[in-house]
Parts: sequence; structure tokens; C-alpha cells
Amino acid sequence: MNNNELKWPLLIYEELKETEEFEKKLQKIFENKESIYVENSKDFFRIFLNNQNISGIILNNSESIKMLVKEIRRRNKKIPIIILKENDTKELDFDILKKIDMTLNIFEDSENFINGRVSKLTENYLNSIKPVFFGKLMDYVKEYKYAWHTPGHTGGTMFMSNPIGKMMLDFYGENTLRSDLSISVPELGSLLDEEGPVKDAEINSARVFSADKTYYILNGTSSVNQIIWKGRVTKDDLAFVDRNCHKSLNYGMVITEATPMYMVPRRNKLGIIGPVKLLEFTKEYIDKMIGENIKLTPAQKKQRVKMSALTNSTYDGLCYNINKIKETLESSVDNLHFDEAWYAYAKFHKLYNGYYAMTDSDNKIEHPPIFASQSTHKLLGAFSQSSMLHIKNGTKKKVDMVVFDEAYLMYGSTSPQYSMIASLDVVSSMMEFNGEELMSETILNAIHLRKRIAKLDYEAKKIEDWFFSIWQPLKIKYNDKFIDFQEVPDSYLLNNQNAWSLSLENDWHGFEDIEDNYVMLDPIKITVKCPGLNIDGIYDKTGIPANILSNYLINKGIVNEKTDTYSLLFLHSIGTTLTKQEALVQGLIDFKKDYDLNTSLESIFPELVESYEEKYSGKGLRDHCQDMHEYIRDSKLLDFMDKGFELIPYQALTPAEASREVFRGNIEHLPLKDVMNRVSAVIVVPYPPGIPILMGGEKINDKSKPVLDFLLAREKFELVFSGYFADIHGIQAFNDSEGIRRFHTMVIKES
Ligand SMILES: Cc1ncc(COP(=O)(O)O)c(C=O)c1O
Repeated sequence: MNNNELKWPLLIYEELKETEEFEKKLQKIFENKESIYVENSKDFFRIFLNNQNISGIILNNSESIKMLVKEIRRRNKKIPIIILKENDTKELDFDILKKIDMTLNIFEDSENFINGRVSKLTENYLNSIKPVFFGKLMDYVKEYKYAWHTPGHTGGTMFMSNPIGKMMLDFYGENTLRSDLSISVPELGSLLDEEGPVKDAEINSARVFSADKTYYILNGTSSVNQIIWKGRVTKDDLAFVDRNCHKSLNYGMVITEATPMYMVPRRNKLGIIGPVKLLEFTKEYIDKMIGENIKLTPAQKKQRVKMSALTNSTYDGLCYNINKIKETLESSVDNLHFDEAWYAYAKFHKLYNGYYAMTDSDNKIEHPPIFASQSTHKLLGAFSQSSMLHIKNGTKKKVDMVVFDEAYLMYGSTSPQYSMIASLDVVSSMMEFNGEELMSETILNAIHLRKRIAKLDYEAKKIEDWFFSIWQPLKIKYNDKFIDFQEVPDSYLLNNQNAWSLSLENDWHGFEDIEDNYVMLDPIKITVKCPGLNIDGIYDKTGIPANILSNYLINKGIVNEKTDTYSLLFLHSIGTTLTKQEALVQGLIDFKKDYDLNTSLESIFPELVESYEEKYSGKGLRDHCQDMHEYIRDSKLLDFMDKGFELIPYQALTPAEASREVFRGNIEHLPLKDVMNRVSAVIVVPYPPGIPILMGGEKINDKSKPVLDFLLAREKFELVFSGYFADIHGIQAFNDSEGIRRFHTMVIKES
């Protein structure tokens, strides 16, 4: 495509009006070009920062030139900067010359020629920023070819023949359909065969994300996890798995027929899932674990662990020091897998140095091959389901990629969506272009929100009022003194891992025996704490269960990522605006107002009251919070949760063996009251906290009774608080013969 078709304007800045002659000439040079003229630096930066579609910048040699050039380059290393001068203009200094692209004396040449020189620069710039695959895809679409291949809408023409189709075409726009192509287009290469521009894009992404090899996976990180396992693990191999794993890893164990052992993450008294102890990665611990919870064959007992899988960061934003883990696991595990579904951005800011799987921060450390799965679509901007699988070879052991391809090919469709490939390519190029800058801004904005809520909380406490707080250090060591979080300079918080590192000395986090320099909190994952339960597990007299706040905020158009019992998680991703932050703060303040006024539930949750009038009619928001708070406290729901998640039940069957029974139909759906001494057929994952409480094949017996107790306690909670139905994977709720809602799960039939 001719880049000038993009019609991106020039930004022309003249601080001082030049001579009339100069002005006339300038207008003439650019008369056929889209241009925006500005005269002061405030307007210049407003336009420059808010419009990424500027093709080049023209400046005159004014007083502010040094500052302007520096600021432009801080944001954009490549955009052409052209300085126009007259015969008598003073020379530019060396520092400026190094940062700009061209100076032009506009009286020394024809308008046409100067225009052409500028056009060439802008065209080169647009070419240079075009991502490898996306660029080719745009070019292809602009060749206006007839599509005699799939997909059947043939570039959208099918949708023109019908009003419903036309609705879709108008909604998505022609380019979406024209660029939805089949693999019969050789110019664009092939995803599965790894050829052409697709391959070039993957190679580029590997470089950008510091991997030796990167695969684009168009079926989400759920598939990435399974491909990694399929490619490296096989029947009866021992695997060492974070119990805080995504359910796709359970299916990874099913398809590979691996035999798992589990790492148990710490939890604090708020119910927040913490890090696995570093000690659990040592050879001694792993040797001790082998066979602890499952019967192994003699051959298995002699095996090394084939794969370890750890969630990094945790959902609540705890990131591991990968160097420490590599070092510790090297002696006992053959492959390291880090599930970084929520953490693809870590490579792009030095705050995370050493804390992500592909880190090169200490190349002296010996390690086995490392695999990372990243949902590029979650916290970077790829289209939904577009993920990346990164591989770093071991220091001694290389991955045979031809063999690994066999696993990859099992999961890839032969009709990949080209826009998804393009989105992965685009995100890689964006992050390379100014990822550090984007991340700095994002982290700083998150710090701003953290400080804002901390200040409101601080002000409220001063007058014995209440507000929400943030799960973060109250005080931070700065210049050898502990000072309030909100007083710590932003630049320190932005650039120092110490500020976020969990330690024994500063135990705001509530995790026991935390190791030095082992785990840090990611500033962009913000956990808002509700009053009601403190970090030592002591209940206040009054309290606000987080699911009530979450429902309240949803009604105001603010949707959080995850809701625990007394805390909510908000993701502060790239592109979170200050206005969006303000809406959240206002939402919290509105809740406080309604809570303090005890505003009637009829006006706050009308649908809930209408559906369960006998339970909620006539109550106020504060009454409702208090009822639920007292119930959680008195029923010891969180204690049940604690005990249920602390233990690993006995594995009567591996996940694969249990799955086989499921598909043979050798199962029963039973109410919870009847499942004692039975073997779970499927994985059971309650949200919150989102950790499997039972894996397929695990036995429900006296040892694991706390698991059942927790599920029964949750069932009872939902009977008392109708309408607050949790999402529990592996559990179905049906009414019994008396019309009472009971949880059922799938267990293996007894022989
Ligand atoms: C830790 C973790 N891994 C993997 C996945 C699966 O990712 P995807 O939704 O891209 O399939 C998720 C999804 O939430 C996740 O939380």
C-alpha cells in the first residue's frame, strides 16, 4: 500500500511568526498535504500526545527547539523531525542535529522538491513502523483481488446480499472482512507451516519478548498450556504443579497422562493466594514429595520430575524472582513452565527485571528449557484468544523444535484468523516501539490511583470515619526511614523493586515466612480491601463483603476482574485513563455514601429485591452488608476455605484415569451430602479464590473432609443469601424434591 494513502497529517509548529514571505512559502510547500499548524508548545504537545497518526513534525528554529526535540524523541524515536530555516538562521547545535532527520532552507529549493523530500521521509517512517505481517496484510487488501477461496463471505460480498449480513458488514467494516483470508494466499505465508511473513512475525516477536522461539497460538493460553505439556510430557511422567493453576493445566495432565504432585501456595488471612515457598522447589523437598499422595510404580519412583508449572504472576499480582526458582529447580526438574497468562508486559519495564520467565537478567544461572504461556490478549492488546508460547532453550539442553512442532500442530486450525495473527504482530511491534514508555505511564497511573485511595483512607481514619484501602505496604523504606506509602516519590516507586518486594520486615502482606527478594507485588494489579476483616484474620464489628461492593459497582458500569470475600481486584492495564480511575474512586465514594445513609436495597439492587422479596425487602445497604458480614464471620466460611485449600487430597486416580472414567460414562452426579468416600471425577474450582479444591481422581475422605465442609458451607451461604451464586467449576446446582437448591458434583461410580 502506498503509505501516503494513510493520509496522516504533518504537525507544523511555528513558535514565532516568521516573515510574511516565509509564511507564504510554507503554505505553498504543504498546500496539498494534510497539515495541522500550531503556535505554542502547549497546543503542540496536546496534539502530539493525543494523536498517534502524525506522519512527521516540522519545526522552525525557535527558542524551545531543544526542549521540543527532546520531548518528541522521549515518546517517539522514529517520527521524522524536520527543521525549516531561512538563510540567516543560526546553526543548530550537535545534540539537536543527532536527534532530528533533516534541516531545510525553504528558500533554496522549489516547493515541489521540498514537499517531495518531506514526503519521502514520512513514507519511510510509515514503512519502518509497519509490522511485518500486518503490513503485508494491509498491502494485500489494497491489491483489490477477487477472492475465489474461503472464507465463504468472500471479502464480505456475501453479506451485501442480505439485510442481516449488511448489518454485520456495516458494523465490522469492510477491511475486517477483506482481510479475513484463507491459507490459499501464499503472499502472507502460513501459520502452521511457519513460512513467509507469518514466520517473520513470529521471529520478530521472539526477539522482542527475549525468547529463542515464539509460536502464535490462536486458541488462547488454555491451548498454549496444553501444547507445552503435550510437547514435553508423556504418560506416567512426574509433574510438579502449582495448585493455583488454571484449569487448562488440569486438562494438560489429562491429555498427557502425567502423574502430578502439587506445590501449595500460601494464603493470607484475607484469603489472598500467595507465593509457593521457595523451599518447595528444593531437591530435598521434591524427593520427599514423590509418592507422598499417590501410589507410584517402582519405575516412577526413580524418575526425575519432567515438568514444573507455576503461575506467574498470581492473579493478585505476586511475581516470582525467576532466577531464584531456575537456580533451585535446575537439579531436579527437566522443563520449567511459567504460566504468565496475565503478565505478558513484564519484559517491557525494568521494574520487573528478573521476575518473568524469559528474563535474561542473569545469564550465568544454569537452567533447563523454560516455557512461558502468555495471553497477549489479556493485558496487552491482541484480539481475544490470541496468545504466545515462548521457549528459551536450557543452558545445556536445547529443545528439538521439530519434535515440539508435532504438539503444536495438534492444536492449530488449518483455517487461522489472519486478524488475530496481525494483532499479535502489531502488539509485538508496539511494545518494541515504546513499550518501556507505555509501561512507565501505566505503572505511574496505577501508583497515582493507589496513592489517591490511600490518601482518602488516611483522611477518613483521621476523623474516625471509614473508607476502602489498598492491599499494599502502608509504609515503605525510603532513605533508610519508613514513610507513608502516599508520601514516597513516584519515581522511587516506579524504579525500585525494593518498594514492592515482600519481606518479613514489612509484613503488610500477611504471608508467613516470606523469603527475601523472592516475590514482589505488581503495582498495576490493584486489590481494594473492604472494611470487615483485617490482615491478622480478626473480624471488625461491622463489615462490607466484597461481592456486595462488586455488584454495586457493576450497576455503575465499573466491572472489576475478581472478587474475593473482602477484597476486589482491579487491573490497571495500558490505556487505563485517569477518567476511568476517577469513575472508580467516585463509585467507591458513592458506595460509602449509600452505606452510611443505609439507602434502601429497593433503590440499589431493585432486581435482587424483586427476585427475593422475602429476603431483602425493607433492608438498607448497611443492613445488608452487616447481615452478610455477620454470617461470614459466624459461619466461619473463611476458616472452612482456609482448611479446604491447605490440604492436598489423596490421589486415588490420576487426572487422566479419572477423565477416562468420565468419558466411559462410569460416573454419577450426586448431591454433596452423598459424596463422602467417593472419588471426584472432575476438577472443582470455586471462584473465589479460583484455585482447584479437588482434581479429578482425588478422594473425598476423612483427610479431605475440609474440602467437602467448605463446599457445603458455600452451598448454605447461597441458601441464606439468594442471588449471590458463586461460579464453581465442576459443581451444578439443582433444586431437590423440597425445592432447596443443592450442589451436585460428578464422582466415579463405585465398582
Ligand atoms: C493463569 C491462567 N492461565 C491460563 C489461562 C487461559 O487463558 P486463555 O483465556 O487465553 O485461554 C487463564 C485464563 O484466565 C489463566 O488465568
